[in-house]
Amino acid sequence: MAQTIDITLTTNKKEKPPENKLGFGIYYTDHMFILDYSVEKGWYDPRIVPYQPITLDPAAKVFHYGQTIFEGLKAYRTKDGRIQLFRPQKNFERLNRSNARLSIPDVDGELALQALQELVRVDQDWIPSAPGTSLYLRPFVIATQAALGVAPSTEYKFMIIMSPVGAYYAEGMNPVKIYVESDHVRAVKGGVGEAKTAGNYAAGLNAQQAASEKGYSQILWLDGVQRKYIEEVGSMNVFFKIDGTVYTPSLNGSILAGITRDSIIHMLKSWDIPVVERPITIEELYEAGANGTLEEAFGTGTAAVISPIGEMNWQDKPLVIRDGSTGELTAKLYDTLTGIQNGDIEDPYGWTV
Ligand code: COI
Repeated sequence: MAQTIDITLTTNKKEKPPENKLGFGIYYTDHMFILDYSVEKGWYDPRIVPYQPITLDPAAKVFHYGQTIFEGLKAYRTKDGRIQLFRPQKNFERLNRSNARLSIPDVDGELALQALQELVRVDQDWIPSAPGTSLYLRPFVIATQAALGVAPSTEYKFMIIMSPVGAYYAEGMNPVKIYVESDHVRAVKGGVGEAKTAGNYAAGLNAQQAASEKGYSQILWLDGVQRKYIEEVGSMNVFFKIDGTVYTPSLNGSILAGITRDSIIHMLKSWDIPVVERPITIEELYEAGANGTLEEAFGTGTAAVISPIGEMNWQDKPLVIRDGSTGELTAKLYDTLTGIQNGDIEDPYGWTV
């Protein structure tokens, strides 16, 4: 049942940034959503308020023990003026799986979706319409109890902020260079790699920085035990087309269950293109590169949607894919998926809301 969300509108609307200079996550809309939690009251006081800083006690658990999770999804303005979300229920299902892993209480998925829709409606004039732009929606939960004992917080905030965005990577749909990381790992089975939680991203920063200094845009992460199996690329899931079949690492407990990943698998199956989820070793990828069967490689995520991979470097061995050009299937997947998301292509899968 729909709940009442209290709305306080700003009296001081911000100037909107030019749509050709949005970047990613730089500008924020006029309003945000907040929902509080205490053990005594459960989740309470859903409200939309003017976008503003929040005050937290310096002892809040989120600062010390990283008890926090987040989600990311996008709202699009269609050519006929409608507003579309892409599979938002999936984000709130995953949000609660992440919550469970981080000992954070479940958020009511229906209320979260209602809040998201209400907030997008309030700030709808912030949804950009230039090609390749959208309104990025960032729901997140933080542990706010001021207490330094290592135990689940008794207080939380669930919030949603929104940012008009362009391409995530400066390269856009131009293939990126990837460094295969053999020392650091992103996650291990039994850890929190499956959860969308801050620490997974913080853990990748130094390897990412080192790769960037060597001229690579992203890291290809290998498994945490043997440094043998491919896991993710940057903050995205990864796909390879080898000899006509598309492969992606199976969800093994340390890989994030991407909603774009799931959508790509569905689309490929509906096009009768063979797609296989299984462990993939870095050696077999290099073998496919050497024998000419590695046809395409790309990352998938909400922020970049699809990002082609043009070149890799593993232990100083370069592997150039398609002479560094974007593959036909990669381009078709990108065009179709972004077309469905922004309403240019009719949605045959029932994904848009
Ligand atoms: C995504 O693309 O889904 C991400 O998680 C990227 C985000 C951390 C900016």
